[in-house]
Amino acid sequence: MTQKDYATLAAKPENAGLTFGELYEISEDIPSNPTANPTMGDVINARLGRRGVLGGMLATAAMSAAMPALGVGEAQAQTVATGLPGATFNFQEISHGVDERHHVAAGYDADVLIRWGDPLFGDSPTFDPERQTGAAQARQFGYNCDYVGLAPMPGATDTSRAALMCVNHEYTSPEIMFRGVSNPQTGRVDATKMTKEFVDVEMAAHGTSIVEIVRGANGKWSYTRGGRHNRRIDISTPMRLSGPAAGHDRLKTAADPSGRAVNGTINNCAGGMTPWGTYLTAEENFHGYFAGTLAAGHSETANHQRYGVPGRWYNWASFYDRFDLGKEPNEANRHGWIVEIDPYDPASTPIKRTALGRFKHEGAETIVARDGRVVLYSGDDERFEYAFKFVTAGRYNPQNRQANMNLLDEGTLYVAKYNADGSGEWLPLVHGQGPLTAANGFNSQADVLIEARRAGDVLGATKMDRPEDFEPNKRTGKIYLALTNNNQRNAQQIDAANPRAENNWGHLIEMTEDGGDHTATRFRWEMLIVCGNPAQPAQRAMYNPATTANGWFACPDNMAIDPQGRLWVGTDQGTAWRAASGTSDGIWAIETEGALRGTSRMFFRVPVGAEICGMNFTSDGQGMTVAVQHPATDGARDYAPFGRHPTFDDMPTRWPDFQANMPARPSVVMITKQGGGVIGT
Ligand code: FEO
Ligand code: CA
Ligand code: CA
Repeated sequence: MTQKDYATLAAKPENAGLTFGELYEISEDIPSNPTANPTMGDVINARLGRRGVLGGMLATAAMSAAMPALGVGEAQAQTVATGLPGATFNFQEISHGVDERHHVAAGYDADVLIRWGDPLFGDSPTFDPERQTGAAQARQFGYNCDYVGLAPMPGATDTSRAALMCVNHEYTSPEIMFRGVSNPQTGRVDATKMTKEFVDVEMAAHGTSIVEIVRGANGKWSYTRGGRHNRRIDISTPMRLSGPAAGHDRLKTAADPSGRAVNGTINNCAGGMTPWGTYLTAEENFHGYFAGTLAAGHSETANHQRYGVPGRWYNWASFYDRFDLGKEPNEANRHGWIVEIDPYDPASTPIKRTALGRFKHEGAETIVARDGRVVLYSGDDERFEYAFKFVTAGRYNPQNRQANMNLLDEGTLYVAKYNADGSGEWLPLVHGQGPLTAANGFNSQADVLIEARRAGDVLGATKMDRPEDFEPNKRTGKIYLALTNNNQRNAQQIDAANPRAENNWGHLIEMTEDGGDHTATRFRWEMLIVCGNPAQPAQRAMYNPATTANGWFACPDNMAIDPQGRLWVGTDQGTAWRAASGTSDGIWAIETEGALRGTSRMFFRVPVGAEICGMNFTSDGQGMTVAVQHPATDGARDYAPFGRHPTFDDMPTRWPDFQANMPARPSVVMITKQGGGVIGT
């Protein structure tokens, strides 16, 4: 199937009014013809001749048809223009590829800012991979950095010279953190070798770090050891539960009969910074930390199953009873929330905001609506799960920070339904409304929030292809949702918003709230990019034809919108990277407006085994953070020069130190333009 098929199908009188999804479905019957491309005139006619979702979709689709069908090898020999007419981005695109190092576009520096194990405090022990302890790790930068948020230093109005950097540490990779715990034949970690000492390191390596960073006279950034705001938050940090579910019986444990006090946060994936300068960290795959067996017939059985609890990824339950379901059936209900942290007060108690619902939160980006209410978007990252937003009841007060500190406790949580005609609805998760009643097992708003997934089920929300980052563009009001992939969707399960079976490549959806009002309960949506290789018709990918053979990508995950309002997308292909694209994960700059809408260009890529996280920008757009997560791990066996499972003693890259006695270290990198200037211009 070629992109031209979209234009051909749409032009047929019998197809008048059909939506993109419907055309996409019937287009599967059309034989492939990759050379029959429309002219740019066709493209423009298609764009002007249609309206709404169809127009936008077809314009992108038709333009993609003009894309030369290059293989990756050919692309690498191709000279890429530094600027396309009408482009908002201007940089020399890098090539697809995979090797032991990171790569950034010519004229840029990508410098390591802070690494796993780096000392945060004056008394932090020097990192020694041979002698790790939980106590040492608790004073050092954690593992697998994900979200990176920046807050102005106290007294400053922006983050261009110095910042409080807020970093999530999503998970640990014990197979390469510790010697002798994994089987090199299978790549599996042997739980019996995960001693309490190793588990304590893992627990301290999770959570978040807050660290002061500063830009030097030479334009380079560094972190400040012993900075006044430096802080480690981990699985032992006391936290508070607030909002409608706080204090509910289902959140009470032996250690916390109040249901309002919980220790720590786990699997902190993406996040967000609020307009009032707090840091939101999203608890994603919390199920993986639980083990044991719930008592037969326990009332939480179905709830835990819906979230995949217990996931048994880690051996924590062997040493800490609260992760053993048989001993503590409610602890899992105390994770899967958005946690709000005040980075300006290192003694502050982080708060889990239950009003935002419990699911595998990917991110937590906010925007202030016209009437001052705050709207937060968050994806539930699992196959066939949902996209959510939350609208606060109160209004943001820019004059009084304190007045905003509990805004996230009261409001309405909504789940998205994507209709085939390009419209969409936000369905409220409000107890007593619609099917959210006792008849369906929802006895209170606490039940609705604790079981937000099941609430989405009964409301009829659209089952998506793994909603990851979900970001409003504060400049344009458009909202972007990254759907990373879903290889489990079959042909009977496709819909307009998830149009491919065995979707190994993901897609990007753009949404516009009705009337441009972020509190609206209806929206319009259209496809921005259908990811994958456009030179492989079977993949049914869709880009603007100005996209080169390095510009296509697979498995969008994190996104960032820079101060100029431009969209950047990072990928996470996981162990399937070879099948998905054959290139390491990277960052692509995406044109969203004008004739180049749907064009993507490759800016950065990570070393083998890593994924891209934590893209964010300093206020002046001259610094870009990137978290390089889990280098040397995912898919190492498919990296030909290595070709085996990585272990502590044997890994495909020792990035970023490249020293024989130092394992690969997840790190935050700061990208700057040589000689200064705004990134991507
Ligand atoms: Fe932690 Fe969904 O990525
Ligand atoms: Ca992610
Ligand atoms: Ca991911």
